[in-house]
Amino acid sequence: MASPYPDGDREKVASKLPPVLRQELKIRAAELSLDIQDAVTAAVTAWRELPEGGPAVDTSGAESYSTWLPAGLYDDFKATCTTRGVSYTQGLAQSVRRWLDTNPSPNGAPPREAPERKIVCNQKGGVGKTAVSAGIAQSYAEDGKRVLLVDYDPQGHLSDQLGIDQIPPGHDSLVSHMCGDGKADLRETIVVIDDPRFEKRLHLLPACFDGFLLDAMIAVQAVDRSKRALQKESALERALIQLEADYDVIVIDCPPSLGIAMDAALYYSRRRTGEPVGSSGVIIPVLAEDSSATAYSMLAGQIEDLREDFSIDIDYLGLVVNLYDSRRGAVATSSLSHWKNIGDPRVLAVIGDLKEQREAVRERQPLLSYAPHSDQAEAMRQIARGASW
Ligand SMILES: Nc1ncnc2c1ncn2[C@@H]1O[C@H](COP(=O)(O)OP(=O)(O)OP(=O)(O)O)[C@@H](O)[C@H]1O
Ligand SMILES: [Mg+2]
Repeated sequence: MASPYPDGDREKVASKLPPVLRQELKIRAAELSLDIQDAVTAAVTAWRELPEGGPAVDTSGAESYSTWLPAGLYDDFKATCTTRGVSYTQGLAQSVRRWLDTNPSPNGAPPREAPERKIVCNQKGGVGKTAVSAGIAQSYAEDGKRVLLVDYDPQGHLSDQLGIDQIPPGHDSLVSHMCGDGKADLRETIVVIDDPRFEKRLHLLPACFDGFLLDAMIAVQAVDRSKRALQKESALERALIQLEADYDVIVIDCPPSLGIAMDAALYYSRRRTGEPVGSSGVIIPVLAEDSSATAYSMLAGQIEDLREDFSIDIDYLGLVVNLYDSRRGAVATSSLSHWKNIGDPRVLAVIGDLKEQREAVRERQPLLSYAPHSDQAEAMRQIARGASW
């Protein structure tokens, strides 16, 4: 769709672009002191001049994108797309991707890679999502990585356990940013975990009480602003993408639910174009009991639906069998065999009921700082290693 530019030599073009590419384009154009519309013009022109199109680019989650191009260029571009048998969205994504690859950052920085995104989830409550999220985030930070730990659960257990206040309702937070109502930079809500062990590399995005209404708020936003065709499932990505350049790993502690917010987290964990298999994906803590198997099947079904609906890959990074106690007899031991026999996802660790975990929570201290040599801390390091293929 195109409409004329006020002075007549350009026309407004309405197409679609994935948020990841939109953000990279914005940053690179600024780094090169270019207008975005000139960058897109160069991208489209260069792509059309290629003997054939480039490799396919992941366009899932593409959202409305407008820019101004020289009159006639968009019609020529559409004709090229038709000749190459690709959609206009795919053609634009290929153009922009290639332009980014051929116009590197002048700062000499290597092309920005997406941070690894580890989504710790299970709609069953009390299985250890928060313990595992906190533990692996600490482990990555201990290893020298810059880590953002996201308390995505309005219960706010993770924030509480690290001694950080939750954000009161109505204030700027991840929730307001997911709903397009963010007022200031989301970075302003981030808290650095002040513990010498992590040398300021471990950051927390605290929970917000508004999160209890998140599913409803995302749904309303998608309807209200349908002109921009906002996709519900990319709400988390839209909020976090502005922070991604600051981190090597983002760990998300999910709530015990399977609603729209959960879909947004699963969608955020999908494998992006060029991203290695198993660097982002889901980690699922489970218990060695039958109800955990039922919960797992429901979650796996939801993941499968998303994969099909959006033609995306979501990698299983692994299972964690938590609070395991063989003294519970055949239910526990046969259930553990069941988890191990699944094979894919594989079991990253089997963890007993360990006192250091409960003590660290009571002391509101990071486990790896409170009891760095405990079995529980070692288990967290093992999971972190296993979840980065
Ligand atoms: N391996 C463990 N040993 C001892 N206590 C543990 C262990 N794992 C978790 N816990 C404790 O069990 C409780 C539940 O764990 P956690 O909060 O991590 O579960 P969750 O899945 O996040 O729960 P929710 O669904 O409510 O968010 C917490 O008090 C936690 O400290
Ligand atoms: Mg929790």
